[in-house]
Amino acid sequence: MRLENRIAVVTGAASGIGAQAAVRLAGEGAKLFLMDVNRAGLEETRARIAAAGGEAESCACDVSDESAVDAAVQRALARFGRIDVLVNVAGVQVTKLLVDTTKAEYDKMMDINLGGTFLLMRKILPLMKAQGSGAIVNCASELAFVGYHELAVYTATKGAMVSLTRSAALEAIPYGVRVNCVCPGATDTPIFWEGETDPEKKRAMLAQVKVEKPIGRLITTDEVANGIIFLASDEASGVVGTCLVIDGGFTAQ
Ligand SMILES: NC(=O)c1ccc[n+]([C@@H]2O[C@H](COP(=O)([O-])OP(=O)(O)OC[C@H]3O[C@@H](n4cnc5c(N)ncnc54)[C@H](O)[C@@H]3O)[C@@H](O)[C@H]2O)c1
Repeated sequence: MRLENRIAVVTGAASGIGAQAAVRLAGEGAKLFLMDVNRAGLEETRARIAAAGGEAESCACDVSDESAVDAAVQRALARFGRIDVLVNVAGVQVTKLLVDTTKAEYDKMMDINLGGTFLLMRKILPLMKAQGSGAIVNCASELAFVGYHELAVYTATKGAMVSLTRSAALEAIPYGVRVNCVCPGATDTPIFWEGETDPEKKRAMLAQVKVEKPIGRLITTDEVANGIIFLASDEASGVVGTCLVIDGGFTAQ
C-alpha cells in the first residue's frame, strides 16, 4: 500500500473523479476526510470506503466559503490530528459563449474552481510546512492548455489553477511539501454529460469524443485516480509543480 495511514482530504468527493480518487486513496491505506456540497453523494462515497474496510469522515462544505473551509479543516484536524495529502477536485462548469456568460456564472466558476483550491491550500499548506511533509494534488484540465468553444471562463479557471499549482509548488518545496496537478481530458462523469439524458444526444457526444480525442473514447475516473495516487505518493518524490496530463492525446495534437 502506497499511502498507509496517511490522512487525505479530498474535495469534490461526492461524485465522479473526486469520489473515485477517495475510494482508491483509501484502498492505498489512507484515511479520508471527504468534502463536498452534495451530502447524499458524500455519504455514498463514505459507505463505499467503509464497505471496503477503510476509514472516512464526510463533511458537507462549500469550498468557496472561507469560514466553512476553515471550520472543515479544524474538524479534519480534530478527527485525525494531521493532514498529509490534499486533493482539490471540486469544480463546476457552465457551458456558454463568453458573451452570454453572466457575472454571477463567472464568479461561481472562479470562486469554486480556483477560489476553493486557493482557500484549501492557504489553510492546509502551513500545516504541511510545519510538519515538514505533505502532497497537494489539484485537478485542472486539458483545457488549461487549449481554448475550447463555449468554455472561455471554465478554461480560464483551469489555466489559472496550473499557474497557482506551479507557484505554490515553489513556495512549498523548501519545506518538503510537493504541489502538483492532474489535467484530465474528457472524463466519464456528470460534468462531462451536463445532465444530458437523451440517448441520441449522448451518442452524438460520444461520436464527437471519437473524432476529437486521439484515444477515441472518454477517460475513466480510475485513470485519473491513478495519476492522483501517483502524485500523492512517495513514488513522485521528485515531482514538483508539474501537470500530469491524462487526456488520451488531445493536447499532443
Ligand atoms: N469530467 C471531465 O470531463 C473533466 C475533465 C477535466 C477536468 N475535470 C475536473 O474534474 C473535477 C471533478 O469533476 P468531475 O468530472 O468528477 O465532475 P462531478 O460533477 O462528478 O464532480 C464535481 C464535484 O464537485 C462538487 N462541487 C461543486 N461545487 C462545489 C462546492 N462549491 N464545494 C464543494 N464541492 C463542490 C460537486 O458536488 C461534485 O461532487 C472538476 O474540477 C472538473 O473541472 C473534469
